[in-house]
Amino acid sequence: MNIEQYLNQEIHKALERIFEQEIDPKQVQIQRTKADFEGDFTLVVFPLLRLAKTKPEDAAKRIGEFLVEKSVVFDRFNVVKGFLNLTLSHGFWLNALQDIVQQPDFGFAEKGSGKKIMIEYSSPNTNKPLHLGHIRNNLLGYAVARILEACGNEVVKVNLVNDRGIHICKSMLAWQRWGEGKTPSDLGVKGDKLVGDFYVRFDQEYKKQIEALKQEGKTEDEAKDQAPLILEAREMLRKWEDRDPEVMKLWEQMNSWVYEGFDETYNRLGIEFDKVYYESDTYKKGKELVLNHLEKGLLKKKEDGSVWADLTEDKLDEKILLRSDGTSVYMTQDLGTAVQRFADYDIDQHVYVVGNEQDYHFKVLSLILKKMGYEWATQLFHLSYGMVELPSGKMKSREGTVVDADDLIDTMISTAAKASADSGKLKGMSKADIEYVHKIVALGALKYFILKVDPKKNMLFNPEESIDFNGNTGPFIQYTHARIRSLMRKADIENQLPQFPLSIDLQPKEQELIQQFGHFPNVVAEAGKSMNPGIVANYLFDLVKIFNQFYHDHSVLNETDEDVRNLRLNLSWQTGQIIKNGMWLLGIDVPERM
Ligand code: ARG
Repeated sequence: MNIEQYLNQEIHKALERIFEQEIDPKQVQIQRTKADFEGDFTLVVFPLLRLAKTKPEDAAKRIGEFLVEKSVVFDRFNVVKGFLNLTLSHGFWLNALQDIVQQPDFGFAEKGSGKKIMIEYSSPNTNKPLHLGHIRNNLLGYAVARILEACGNEVVKVNLVNDRGIHICKSMLAWQRWGEGKTPSDLGVKGDKLVGDFYVRFDQEYKKQIEALKQEGKTEDEAKDQAPLILEAREMLRKWEDRDPEVMKLWEQMNSWVYEGFDETYNRLGIEFDKVYYESDTYKKGKELVLNHLEKGLLKKKEDGSVWADLTEDKLDEKILLRSDGTSVYMTQDLGTAVQRFADYDIDQHVYVVGNEQDYHFKVLSLILKKMGYEWATQLFHLSYGMVELPSGKMKSREGTVVDADDLIDTMISTAAKASADSGKLKGMSKADIEYVHKIVALGALKYFILKVDPKKNMLFNPEESIDFNGNTGPFIQYTHARIRSLMRKADIENQLPQFPLSIDLQPKEQELIQQFGHFPNVVAEAGKSMNPGIVANYLFDLVKIFNQFYHDHSVLNETDEDVRNLRLNLSWQTGQIIKNGMWLLGIDVPERM
């Protein structure tokens, strides 16, 4: 139970005694006291006026007097119009702290108290390596999965790989033609990069052919349509659809190179999945589904044989689902994938982490599934996020447009190494330990900087700013954690927290810290409801700021009053604990030393 729920219950009990009748819990409304007033929590008295039959001020006074007299929780009160501002006693806060430090999972809801939710993220195409956009996607998906789990839900994390279609055939054809049979290990490159390079190579050669055809007098469209390379790629796709053994073998081999490369990047990022779906499996299911509903009359066939869903009644367009040659489109696959997933897992909800350029796609997807009669169609949620870019001038990518994910991770690690060499903080640590710290600081910087931003917003990722030890950054928070852990080692209380009595006179910064601890469960719940990890990130930043003020103003290890020293050790320990658990929600590791 969090502090607000506890107070709610206390006040509810008291009100029933004051008014001598049962009271609907909805009538008990408490909120944090506004900054301009004295108090910790405020009871809104207006909903109780019918019971009180007096002016709001008198009712508030009566309740306030009762609470302060009868309960040790409340120390004093003041009344502002119909608002009863309550100041909680030091004993209450100290008691709350004793309670909190005993809960290893403080802030996390009970397992199994929620729903079963599937979340899809990453979802790359196999013809291109992962880029900065995928990084935001992966980080968001993974953090939201952990947050939803912490809210008591059972979460299934899935990926959807687009491994079929003309773009893959382009890579395959180019490698067949110009690859000289060389594998990623022959060339010493990652498999996804190799396949991506041949996709680029295809395009270069294709463009040359288009130019040549235009010289011969063809129009642009004719040239694009008739270039020998594109004809061959189409032929290869046709063979793939017919399961031609040679083409299948090449396809499997090149995809396996890609997966090895992707897995390496996921690993470096610390991202994982419970299950991977492949479009090459699900598109057939989608096609079956469409043909089924065509028979039932829900969809319509045009003269050229193409199949469409008419969504004009719902103020959307007509949507093509099968082309005139019977091949399926992106949407067809997604219909099949969704049906497959709800059959594979008994899920209540499905979250898709996909960029906001696909808002329309997901609107159409839910609508078609709803029309097909799937009740769960209303439980599809598109977690739509904005674009992420580097400030201009930073890190030119190989093709000059997108920033490669592996290159960015490398840049982050070298920036972290440079920052730590400059600060001299890691002196005296072994080489392996130093490398470990650089890695988690680099990733902490990257992850935190991206996750602290509301997913809906577009953003710029600035590598240097993200690693600033004095800003709202991952390393700033990681560093505070390391300092707290060092304090614990010095106090020699890593395993057993010391006791403190409830009679201590709390200092304002100490109380503020406990109050901030108390908000953590609400923050987790709020982040889960809105699927916004930024809420957790910014909460942690506030916590760390409060802790640093406390640590600046008060001595801990050198405090001579033993009770006070013990209290402060508890406060420090709990701050470290919440940092660790909060960063875990963001997929960020925290070091013991740095
Ligand atoms: N592979 C697609 C792309 O790169 C994204 C897939 C998103 N997920 C989905 N279920 N449609 O654009």
